[in-house]
Amino acid sequence: MARIISIVNQKGGTGKTTTAINLGAALATFGKFVLLVDFDPQGNASSGLGVRLEEGDRGVYDVLSGHKSATAAIAGTTVQGLNLLPSGQDLSGAAIELVNEDNREYKLQEALREVRNDYDFILVDCPPSLGLLTINSLVASDDVLIPVQCEYYALEGLGQLLNSIELVKNSLQPDLDILGALLTMYHKRLRLAKDVVSQVKKHFPHRVFKTLIPRNVDLAEAPSFGTPIIEHSERSAGSKAYRKLAIEVLKAYNLV
Ligand SMILES: Nc1ncnc2c1ncn2[C@@H]1O[C@H](COP(=O)(O)OP(=O)(O)O)[C@@H](O)[C@H]1O
Ligand SMILES: [Mg+2]
Repeated sequence: MARIISIVNQKGGTGKTTTAINLGAALATFGKFVLLVDFDPQGNASSGLGVRLEEGDRGVYDVLSGHKSATAAIAGTTVQGLNLLPSGQDLSGAAIELVNEDNREYKLQEALREVRNDYDFILVDCPPSLGLLTINSLVASDDVLIPVQCEYYALEGLGQLLNSIELVKNSLQPDLDILGALLTMYHKRLRLAKDVVSQVKKHFPHRVFKTLIPRNVDLAEAPSFGTPIIEHSERSAGSKAYRKLAIEVLKAYNLV
């Protein structure tokens, strides 16, 4: 049965989508079956993997609302072993409509039940907020991975995020755990980046992944080609870093 991991940070631009795509692709190259759920109405994970929804196709929203099975909505990608449950613009409407439904926090969990046995990992790329979509993702998940950008305000907001995770754990999903924080956009020649790394290691009360994701132009460029970094530029620093992260994640689950 798949381990379901939410990739969460309520701040925008911390590397959630980049991590979802490239960790997913790296796990797939290590022979794991991976489903990436694009749970952000902006659909960046879908476009970054070269998947565009047709007019009227509402992807994961059709699944949440019970109009389509997860199996029917899942698309393949250019990476063998990596599938995608895409997002359409309508996902922003979904959050509003869900507000009045029974079990509104459990919609994603219910939707994934059908496909959970088909995968080793399901990664959920969350939107930059702590709203109902993110709550759905946390409730559906076993673990949380938090990308933290190496910038001056890195720690800001992490306390609030940990509180929200704790609330979900106490009331909706008691088995939810924190897999760890991932430092992204690390610039090795910047003193500030080093300071951020030591600050996060000092104050974050859970695992901080040893792998640092470097600031790397190939990582920023790959989405415009609709491919993960391992296909776009296999030997780049970004590609190596996400492979290293994949090994760390596999080790955390005792899978290597
Ligand atoms: N390690 C990195 N090096 C360079 N650019 C990056 C890196 N990680 C992300 N980016 C770029 O930064 C922007 C925000 O990243 P993204 O993954 O979309 O963040 P989020 O999903 O948290 O909003 C994107 O333009 C992305 O291409
Ligand atoms: Mg994103």
